[in-house]
Amino acid sequence: MTDVLIIGGGIIGLATAIALSQKGANVTVVERDICGRGATWAAAGMLAPEAERLEGDLLEFGIRSREMYPQWIANLMRLSGQDCGYWCCGMIAPVLEESDRQIISEHPKYINREESRKRQSGLGEAILGSLWLPEDGQVNNRKLTQALLTTARSLSIKILEGTTVYQIVHDQNRVTHLDTSAGRLQSDRYVLATGAWTRSLLPLPIKPIKGQMLSVFDGDRKLQRVIYAPSCYIVPRQDGTIVIGATVEDNGFSQGNTAAGIAQLLNRAISVYPAIADMQITETWWGFRPHAPNEVPLLGASDYENLILATGHYRNGILFAPITAKLITDFMADGITDSIYLQ
Ligand code: FAD
Ligand code: GLY
Repeated sequence: MTDVLIIGGGIIGLATAIALSQKGANVTVVERDICGRGATWAAAGMLAPEAERLEGDLLEFGIRSREMYPQWIANLMRLSGQDCGYWCCGMIAPVLEESDRQIISEHPKYINREESRKRQSGLGEAILGSLWLPEDGQVNNRKLTQALLTTARSLSIKILEGTTVYQIVHDQNRVTHLDTSAGRLQSDRYVLATGAWTRSLLPLPIKPIKGQMLSVFDGDRKLQRVIYAPSCYIVPRQDGTIVIGATVEDNGFSQGNTAAGIAQLLNRAISVYPAIADMQITETWWGFRPHAPNEVPLLGASDYENLILATGHYRNGILFAPITAKLITDFMADGITDSIYLQ
């Protein structure tokens, strides 16, 4: 394999860089900020194709990636020597309305209120029953980013942080070089992994969907499952941090947390897990999901023969990272197109 330049140092760019490097490519990652500070930093780290209610081929895609996670994490831990907070903790997806309960109680994974409480103590009165999803889990996305970076450096992947790509310059159907804040950069092939900011470089149908989040600290560490309620999820980390998310806002790159956004999350979180009311708020933040049409990522060929797309992972980019890195690498190294999602 030849030289590959990856635009964007989020989870998708870094995971793909590592997979390509392990196939023998000479890889450079160009990141305008610090790697992993985009959506990858903002995420909750849920690996939740079922709780996210993915359907059809996208559900299968997500389950394939979830199945790849143990091996993928083991490889990263071996190469980096770092923990990634990978935890097969299972998820409780509560039902809060009687009309929903009647429909969802037909689901094979439905459990009633009492069984829900056996899976997790301290659930709120608002919970009528739930889906028990033992195979959905989580990773600590911020720790994972550090492990990806350490691994990338150990493989001699060149990482250019603080370098903005201004323009992808092409000659008919080939990219010739990138105009960047560090001057002109050139490679044999390029991968576009710019998440929610993709449209600033190419006219692709990707738009930002903002998500506000907060965390609280649970000194007792009694919460041991993810609670994935309607319009709010609660993700306990192993160190006692509980991540609560997230709003879904279609208003461009509007910055900041709002009182309404945080109030909405806290009200719902306290109703499904009341102990949160007494926990200290430790952080608030927000991020931008890269939304693509039908919520399906844009992967593979572009209008330019030497530019590959790896963007638009919307709500599930942490989950989809291992399968994306594999598909893009198989495609670039061996021409394999082993997915309906690879264009
Ligand atoms: P990003 O992480 O955004 O990385 C893109 C990078 O490209 C950025 O670092 C950016 O600085 C860089 N870049 C952009 N333009 C340029 C340029 N011109 N030059 C140089 N660099 C550039 N997914 C899950 O699977 N599970 C979850 O629980 C989950 N929770 C989420 C919660 C929230 C609030 C949000 C916002 C997202 C969540 N997601 C979750 C979605 C997931 O975070 C994203 O799908 C994933 O991080 C996308 O990764 P990425 O590498 O494509 O994008
Ligand atoms: N997948 C969780 C979110 O996007 O908020």
